[in-house]
Amino acid sequence: MADLTKQLNRSDAKARLAELASVLERADAAYHTKDDPFISDAEYDALKRENAALEQAFPDLKLADSPSDRVGAAPSDGFSKYKHAKRMMSLSNAFSAEDVADFDERVRKFLNLSADQTVSYTAEPKIDGLSLSLRYEAGKLVAAATRGDGEVGENVTPNALTISDIPDQIDTTLQVLEVRGEVYMADTDFAALNAAQQAKGNKPFANPRNAAAGSLRQLDASITKSRPLRFFAYAWGELSAPLADTQTGALAELQRLGFTVNELTQGFGSVEGLIEHYNLIEQKRAALGYDIDGVVYKVDDLDYQRRLGFRSTTPRWAIAHKFPAEMAWTRLEAIEIQVGRTGALSPVARLHPVTVGGVVVSNATLHNEDYIAGFDNSGAVLREGRDIRVSDWVQIYRAGDVIPKIRDVDLSKRDAASEPYVFPTVCPECGSPAEREEGDSVRRCTGGLICPAQAVEKLKHFVGRSAFDIDGLGAKQVEQFYLDGWIAEPADIFTLGERFGAGSMRQLKNRDGWGAKSAEKLFQAIEDKRTIPFSRMLFGLGIRHVGEAASSLIAQHFTSWSRLTEVLDAAQDGSEDARATLLEIDGVGEVMANALIAAFANPAERASIDKLASVLTIEDAAQLAQSDSPVAGLTVVFTGTLETMARAEAKASAEALGAKVASSVSKKTDILIAGAAAGSKAAKAEALGVRVVTEAQWRDLTGI
Ligand code: IVH
Repeated sequence: MADLTKQLNRSDAKARLAELASVLERADAAYHTKDDPFISDAEYDALKRENAALEQAFPDLKLADSPSDRVGAAPSDGFSKYKHAKRMMSLSNAFSAEDVADFDERVRKFLNLSADQTVSYTAEPKIDGLSLSLRYEAGKLVAAATRGDGEVGENVTPNALTISDIPDQIDTTLQVLEVRGEVYMADTDFAALNAAQQAKGNKPFANPRNAAAGSLRQLDASITKSRPLRFFAYAWGELSAPLADTQTGALAELQRLGFTVNELTQGFGSVEGLIEHYNLIEQKRAALGYDIDGVVYKVDDLDYQRRLGFRSTTPRWAIAHKFPAEMAWTRLEAIEIQVGRTGALSPVARLHPVTVGGVVVSNATLHNEDYIAGFDNSGAVLREGRDIRVSDWVQIYRAGDVIPKIRDVDLSKRDAASEPYVFPTVCPECGSPAEREEGDSVRRCTGGLICPAQAVEKLKHFVGRSAFDIDGLGAKQVEQFYLDGWIAEPADIFTLGERFGAGSMRQLKNRDGWGAKSAEKLFQAIEDKRTIPFSRMLFGLGIRHVGEAASSLIAQHFTSWSRLTEVLDAAQDGSEDARATLLEIDGVGEVMANALIAAFANPAERASIDKLASVLTIEDAAQLAQSDSPVAGLTVVFTGTLETMARAEAKASAEALGAKVASSVSKKTDILIAGAAAGSKAAKAEALGVRVVTEAQWRDLTGI
């Protein structure tokens, strides 16, 4: 590759870069947006490498929107957005009978059931297609939308209406009925479609799932109509009245209304039954005629489902028991080190491309240096101690959508001259020492903001979707602006206009890939984010351990940015009260509290945070969801043994009523709910004059 780039002169290189940008952009869109890749992963990687080599040889020719900086593709903008009335959830996974037993245990514990009380479940195949939500109002289909990010999907109503399994009119008395299920393509239909695609000179689809997704998401619904799509109903969203008392009953009702429910759906009274059914479905898998990737178990009783509720993106009442991962052997060509936002050095295996479960894989994670050496995080021996070396023959596996991993090494094929991999002790990006803290398996660059990789990753995180989400300022632009010296830290984004004055627009619009319109739009998008919610500001800083959910909790707790900084400053000065205020937040533990305090105490980091805060308006956070319940906005603590509900349910239901649940008692506690054998917390509450109630009084108060 290097030779090739040397042979090219500047103008050839420029032309080739433009060509590569165009091909790669189409390839990205085909893969991510159209679900219809037209080149293999290996070909794609080769083009990317060629692009990177040319950019290295001619750095000044690198395009502003170079494919090297692009990750995935923007969501398709051909469809209108559709906000789901109820979030579309995904499922947590189980990989063994033991995981399933743990799931049952968690469910029973949450519901506070005794050892002899069992829970009934349904088991059904997990269809490998794409989920769709169908909204019926007064029995008429009014909208069909894909899952999207769970909250907002794509409106594909005309397309859904072409699927014969989806009725446009149903016989129901319900004003609102949202039916959810999976769109898929049968194996024979997939084979026929691919044969027709090839006859027409079109690239075949990689698998039935891609074919189904690509067929449903056609702007021209007549194309969808010509594709043989099918639909299984398995769940529901908003309902104006319940469908039944049980999952089984609800599915029977959906069937009565004309939906197809998978015939392998069955109810069981025990985990043993579920596992038997899993084995049966696995045996039948090849002959089913459509792709499935596991078995889904759901709590049958809908009142139990209601009580169990949801974690942020998955229900507590369901789990997907996945079929074993697919595996393949290939050659490990190189180990590369990537430096992340928090300085973590992550080793990545570059592999000779190999197909694993229908997907070409050319990279796999190697986790950390211990993993390469043959140890897990606790120091236990992995792969019977076999280490991983460059040029080794390695076994790759993929489980679900997760990044491919390496399971094993074939020592009989090891090159006699190979050497154990030596993990770098200096950062490959900035040369600063890379150190491991006691008890941490990750080695981290100590360069902080002077490390370009950390600085750029922090900036990318800052502009990310859950943080500042500035339209037109994605990972690739941030990287480019960083390389150009335009922005080095988040505050610089908001001073771009000021620093360059009117000239900034001119400079930007004269750059490759930028026009007057896009430049103007970018400056407007930046201005739009100058006022930012507290939680996004905090999450945007990218402080280790402080994730999106924690940022919201912290914002809701302190409500104003100045209050948070005051508390962190006091904690840094050694105030135990301040530390306690932080730890009082349920969901904030020692590790996170220390990370927050340390970030605000680090002079360079603090200067950067304050500089950012000074150019923004940080909106106060609202107190926790205000409901009209008598405990909304109150801080409550549970202690002792509760009789009617387990601690997790007590907490979830209090939060649903708008109360904050803290783990320790302080002056700010409003109510302590004391179960049986309440100990020191009850005594402390008495001493502080905090209101103490029994479990029964709490139930009376809240009406739960
Ligand atoms: S239930 C709230 N049941 O799997 C529960 N999902 O990995 C919603 N899926 O997004 C999901 N077969 O697209 C459910 N029998 C089944 C399923 C199923 C396939 C998909 C669905 C979901 C994904 C989660």
